[in-house]
Amino acid sequence: MSTDISRKKFLQYTAAAGAAVLLSSLESFASGNGDKKLRVAIIGCGSVSGSYIPKLQTSDMIEIVSLCDIKYERALERKKTFNVNAETYHNIDEMLKGVPFDMMITLTDMQVHEGLNRKALMATKHVWSEKPMANTYAAGKELLDLARSKKLRLWGAPAVVNSPQFEFMSKKIQSGELGKLSSAHCQYGHTGPTWSAFFYEKGGGSMPDLGVYNMATITGLFGPARSIMAMTSIVTKERTVDDKGKIKVEAEDNAHILLEHDNNIISHVMCGFNFYDRFGHQAKDQMLHSIQIYGSEGNMRLLGYDWETNGVTVDSLKTDGKEMLYSTDKGGYQWQEGAKVVGESMHKGIEPRINVEHALHVLEIIEAARKSSASGMKIKLKSKFPWPMV
Ligand SMILES: NC(=O)c1ccc[n+]([C@@H]2O[C@H](COP(=O)([O-])OP(=O)(O)OC[C@H]3O[C@@H](n4cnc5c(N)ncnc54)[C@H](O)[C@@H]3O)[C@@H](O)[C@H]2O)c1
Repeated sequence: MSTDISRKKFLQYTAAAGAAVLLSSLESFASGNGDKKLRVAIIGCGSVSGSYIPKLQTSDMIEIVSLCDIKYERALERKKTFNVNAETYHNIDEMLKGVPFDMMITLTDMQVHEGLNRKALMATKHVWSEKPMANTYAAGKELLDLARSKKLRLWGAPAVVNSPQFEFMSKKIQSGELGKLSSAHCQYGHTGPTWSAFFYEKGGGSMPDLGVYNMATITGLFGPARSIMAMTSIVTKERTVDDKGKIKVEAEDNAHILLEHDNNIISHVMCGFNFYDRFGHQAKDQMLHSIQIYGSEGNMRLLGYDWETNGVTVDSLKTDGKEMLYSTDKGGYQWQEGAKVVGESMHKGIEPRINVEHALHVLEIIEAARKSSASGMKIKLKSKFPWPMV
């Protein structure tokens, strides 16, 4: 039996074993809940909450019962702006003692996700966390073990695997039309957030903020990475941001990461906070080939970013070398849908495509990239996730 086959079997086994544990905790919510909505509490009422709240409000299975921010006026402002029938809180301890809820949605500065997620799990709450769910892979794994020991669910952004374009690309790869795969290039960047310093402080950086999307997409398509080599740098040494004025940049704002997958396939992720983008932060009409996949009998390119998808092109032996445009319909997919999708899945007692072990794998990639850049060494990974995802 080749290494590849035994690895595949291992993944299938772990996927099945994982699914059994996960389903039991899902069923425990669905069966005990009757017709009640899933009650969610949002912590962190800054920029991204402005996309999450209206998305959650489109669900008839979810209700937002709490809003919390250490800048309390932001919780009040969100309640008013979006007309949310929720209690507001100054901090997590107050919120955990307040109105009961089922799932916390963590939308704060990246560096404090881990501590907040741990507190919520300890208080028997399910958790959806913006990326990263913890500051290290080990801490993230510990959170997952904690969640499982309490029959709770823990989930991590991003939601890129939900897009119809991800599904199309995954199926195209599995159909064999591209032949033997060898390489991929992925990129995402802009000139960096201007509102908060945490993006540039230790534990922040362009990898957990931006590269994370590409890492989730390419491992979702090619399977778990075995090892990582990377170079990261700081190009802009100082920035001026709304909350702290002039700051020293401590986290990488420029990163190139090489991922080694099974079957000697190598992919590359490039991300940074110094990329001019004429389409701006929202990137709605961006048609850049942000994911490019190369095989011996065909190539495939994603138009736009993997979180804001606009279509997929394929040229292959099968298309006689003609470039064909496919999958231009987003089918309702939006990057901010993750918490809504997992919340509704819990309510219905079904397993969504988003998988926490996948998010943990991406966290391990980010940590390995930092280690590789600092040491000049290739770093082996240990985490895996159920794959293929579609
Ligand atoms: N802004 C975006 O477009 C966007 C998109 C996708 C993902 N994200 C992710 O969302 C997260 C938040 O980003 P943002 O842009 O909204 O940042 P932000 O600075 O606008 O908002 C963060 C909020 O969290 C609050 N906060 C910090 N620590 C807290 C604590 N201990 N308890 C309660 N509240 C606390 C801050 O006061 C602030 O209001 C990050 O992980 C980021 O990577 C942001």
